Amino acid sequence: MSLPAKLESIVSDIESQFSIDDAYIVKATKFFLSSMEAGLAAPSSSREYMPMIPAYVTSIPTGKEKGLFLAADLGGTNFRVCSIDLKGDHTFELKQSKYRIPVEIMNAEESEELFSYLAKKVESFLEEHHADYHTKSKDHLKLGFTFSFPVNQTALDQGTLIRWTKGFNIPDTVDRDVVELLQANLVILGINVKVVALANDTVGTLLSRAYVNDPAKTKSNTIIGAIFGTGTNGAYYETIENIPKLTADKVPEGAKGMVINTEWGSFDNTLSILPNTKWDVTVDKETANPGYHLFEKRISGMFLGEILRVVLIDLFEQGHIFVDLAAERGGSLPHRVKEPWQLDAEILSYIEIDDSTDLQMSGLIMQNVLRLPTTKEERVLIQRITRAISHRAAYLSAIPLAAIASKVKDQYKDDDRDFEFGCDGSVVEFYPCFRDTILKAVAAIDPLKGTGKKIHLRIAKDGSGVGAALAASTVA
Ligand code: BGC
Repeated sequence: MSLPAKLESIVSDIESQFSIDDAYIVKATKFFLSSMEAGLAAPSSSREYMPMIPAYVTSIPTGKEKGLFLAADLGGTNFRVCSIDLKGDHTFELKQSKYRIPVEIMNAEESEELFSYLAKKVESFLEEHHADYHTKSKDHLKLGFTFSFPVNQTALDQGTLIRWTKGFNIPDTVDRDVVELLQANLVILGINVKVVALANDTVGTLLSRAYVNDPAKTKSNTIIGAIFGTGTNGAYYETIENIPKLTADKVPEGAKGMVINTEWGSFDNTLSILPNTKWDVTVDKETANPGYHLFEKRISGMFLGEILRVVLIDLFEQGHIFVDLAAERGGSLPHRVKEPWQLDAEILSYIEIDDSTDLQMSGLIMQNVLRLPTTKEERVLIQRITRAISHRAAYLSAIPLAAIASKVKDQYKDDDRDFEFGCDGSVVEFYPCFRDTILKAVAAIDPLKGTGKKIHLRIAKDGSGVGAALAASTVA
């Protein structure tokens, strides 16, 4: 559907500001590689390069691991408690409960409020699913704690919070050991559980996908665990000699390599290369961590809707859209449109693929979610901007995947299997065409050129819990 000339030129201009091409992602992949190397070498973290956090997991599962473990998973919106019975044959049995974290707890005054809430949920889970372990058993259950925020990890069961992301803001937790905080609150409740491993969700995703993957069948090795959900990040296995910041005293005996939590959300915080529209600047200012995780703020589910919302507000303020509506309402827009974070990426996913007459479906959605009546032209504009934002996100997402594939390809030079990326998160799983666009962009970068190997993107659903159990299984 065509737009009046003036609106058409406005929309085309916005599209071009969000547009990135193959030449850009090739260049950005090289820059990503150098940022990884800087992060692997620098003894302390800096805004300038990626954290590249050693995860103290020194091997990748083979699928033969066995036993019953607990996992507690604090990610974005939900807290999950699971028990995982690893069968030792690439399969497992999982029981789980999921709790939506109240906003007051995400913004609590003190860490204890959050961690006592988490411990109580572990208690209810045990009461429901493993009542015998709660008090009676002599042996404690081992728990792997998936904690999906940047942590300065110093051992498998030790790590202090660097900073909160994704809407959490409890300043008092920064620099404190999150394993200790959880353990202390479990002890207070008299729960017979020991937190033996701390793992980022991406580390968990890598381990769980590797456990489930049977290379004899898939003819592929699991190279990366990645999340594209509320936030984004990835983990991979690096050889010890490539991690200069890991001094000899910190290398566990006999280890040849270690899983690295890249925290790629913090790629290019100084904006040397990332696209930076005025709307990205506005969104960054609204967050609790301005100036950090700028890559994440262009890619992940928490931000896509907000970018669209601030573009719409900007166009409204310039008098290009919602003109009659505002006139009827005495100059203002419905309050939901004015409030940050009201537009979930899920809403964008419906708008993205709306092919109803005059985009009526998008109209209903905007009305329902934001109480915002729209004209046909406005809906066309909204759909085109949505597509521009999500296309940029998917294209950018290919950069870390391709960079890591190219960085590790020598590790696999004596093996002819393909590479697989284990991915989890609402955006990669559900956003229409997101996966296909990532793969198209990875193909344009062509990180495995000359090897004859293919790249597969596989969904590793809810892998983080199983992965934490696998990390716990490495503890004697
Ligand atoms: C966090 C990462 C996490 C990612 C995906 C980011 O905001 O910093 O630790 O892995 O979200 O959940």
